[in-house]
Amino acid sequence: MELHSLIKKAEMTHELTEEELTLLLSASEAEEEMAEAADRVRKEYVGDAVHLRGLIEFSSYCRRNCMYCGLRRENENARRYRLSPEEILTLAKKAVDYGYHTVVLQSGEDIWFTVERLVPIIKQIKAMGVAVTLSIGERSREEYAAFREAGADRFLIRIETTDRELYERLDPGMSFDERCRCINDIKDLGYEVGTGCLIGLPGQSVESLARDILFFKSIDADMVGIGPLIPNPETPLGDVPIGDIGITRRMVSAIRLLLPEANIPATTAMETLLPHKGRELILRSGANVVMPNVTEGEAREKYALYPGKACVLDTPAHCRTCMETRIKAIGRFIGEDAGFRKHKR
Ligand code: 5AD
Ligand code: SF4
Ligand code: FES
Repeated sequence: MELHSLIKKAEMTHELTEEELTLLLSASEAEEEMAEAADRVRKEYVGDAVHLRGLIEFSSYCRRNCMYCGLRRENENARRYRLSPEEILTLAKKAVDYGYHTVVLQSGEDIWFTVERLVPIIKQIKAMGVAVTLSIGERSREEYAAFREAGADRFLIRIETTDRELYERLDPGMSFDERCRCINDIKDLGYEVGTGCLIGLPGQSVESLARDILFFKSIDADMVGIGPLIPNPETPLGDVPIGDIGITRRMVSAIRLLLPEANIPATTAMETLLPHKGRELILRSGANVVMPNVTEGEAREKYALYPGKACVLDTPAHCRTCMETRIKAIGRFIGEDAGFRKHKR
């Protein structure tokens, strides 16, 4: 089948085989047409609203050692911090005052934040009348259950790659099966599940990216966040090339085509590689969510997964206005509800 017919098939049926996806993801000449088709599907299924999620990066401590990430435990140059519960609640209150309807609590895998410490924080943020998303990595089923019970609505946990061998090589000490266990438990406990992958891991094939998309579809992911790898010189992967922008964009479009109802963020990594235009480009290629960072002060700089992160030197208030202007400039508007996953069909 030629590329054009494949895109039409994806737009009409939301189904493609691994081989078909691989063809599209490899074809830079298909990129604009894929983005246009994905933009139509986005409009039909999730509309013109862009949902903003206020992101609080509350701890830069991490017990893991992922080869690409600046927060890995062996990075002695990483500047570690841990916000107090009071500081987290103050930021959450500000996020609500900016008009964000979701607060995302993100951290490295920091076990200082036990169930006893996190549950009251979740409850107090829920009492502010917003949705709460957790992005804190791997925990036991019991812990996930306790956070859910406390009111957490969603959980972000990227699979990073569905290539088991690559996953276990790049996330040393972590197990692919355990990652899947976490995702299954999170889903089973009734959270909205957000997952996703990195684009441009050394040894990652286009076929494997195609399989990543089929994995997202197989678990009926509510959210899918993807971004290009940005090499961090303080990690073992400091010298690898930057993840390909075109493939990342084609991935976003393909994800929208195959998972029409999903919430898909325009991630900070794309904005970092294409300053002042990355988010728009991705919002016009299938995405419908942005996660503005509401972390303030030194913590904002210290949460450094990769260098050059967009908006690090801007204030949360500035980003709030900036995003509103940018969203309106592309003919879209800011979502006025919590932006839960839509179920159309
Ligand atoms: N470049 C881009 N994304 C990264 N992440 C971690 N390190 C990097 C990097 N160097 C991503 C991972 C993780 C998410 C929070 O950040 O995919 O799941
Ligand atoms: Fe820790 Fe996540 Fe970074 Fe891995 S990617 S080192 S788990 S913060
Ligand atoms: Fe942060 Fe524009 S969104 S400066």
